[in-house]
Amino acid sequence: MSNNHSKPDFYSLKARKEGYMARSVYKLEEIQNKNKLIKPGDTVLDVGASPGSWTQYAMQLLKGRGKVVGADLKPLGKFKAKGNMTFIQGDVFSEEVAEQLASLGPFDVIISDAAPSTCGNRLMDTRRSYDLVERILEFTLIWLKPGGNFTVKIFQGGDEQILFDRMRGEFEQVKRLKPKAVRNESFEQYFIGLKRKSNL
Ligand SMILES: C[S@@+](CC[C@H](N)C(=O)[O-])C[C@H]1O[C@@H](n2cnc3c(N)ncnc32)[C@H](O)[C@@H]1O
Repeated sequence: MSNNHSKPDFYSLKARKEGYMARSVYKLEEIQNKNKLIKPGDTVLDVGASPGSWTQYAMQLLKGRGKVVGADLKPLGKFKAKGNMTFIQGDVFSEEVAEQLASLGPFDVIISDAAPSTCGNRLMDTRRSYDLVERILEFTLIWLKPGGNFTVKIFQGGDEQILFDRMRGEFEQVKRLKPKAVRNESFEQYFIGLKRKSNL
């Protein structure tokens, strides 16, 4: 549960108590409760999965059916991929990861809490987030099934409306949400795309 905040807050303590790798799990929980992204039996890809709380939560939602694939540059926290869960360590945009995804995908749901490396300058960080989400969106259009659902984290304050509008062309319904577990001082929010349109 690495962050720059020295004092654990309500959500960090709750995550620790409930055995989740990170407090971010409660952001996905709110997105899920409001949008029903994931259902039992789905195949789910978690982009930027480490330390693993979103993957843990997605596994619970599957109720023993389907599978979750997590991918991250960094290893998972203190839990191991087992059963219907697979973890791939690497850059999701690399050929090595694409080769592994080829035998695991396509996916019913893609969730991404991936974050760029930040420098503290809001303008630059927002730009980095935009660039990352633009790539994740392209990647999603390769790996997400028609009818599939998607959520991605993006920093507010830049050109993110362009990506929101692009998502409108690809999904039946597109929404944005700032979950309660996002820290007050944070400018992150989530875009949610429901039911990918079919190209047929
Ligand atoms: C905020 S953390 C995700 C937390 C996770 N949702 C959880 O609940 O435990 C963001 C992650 O995105 C990952 N990431 C950023 N760019 C990536 C890339 N190109 N490929 C794989 N992982 C990436 C980072 O390594 C980092 O671990």
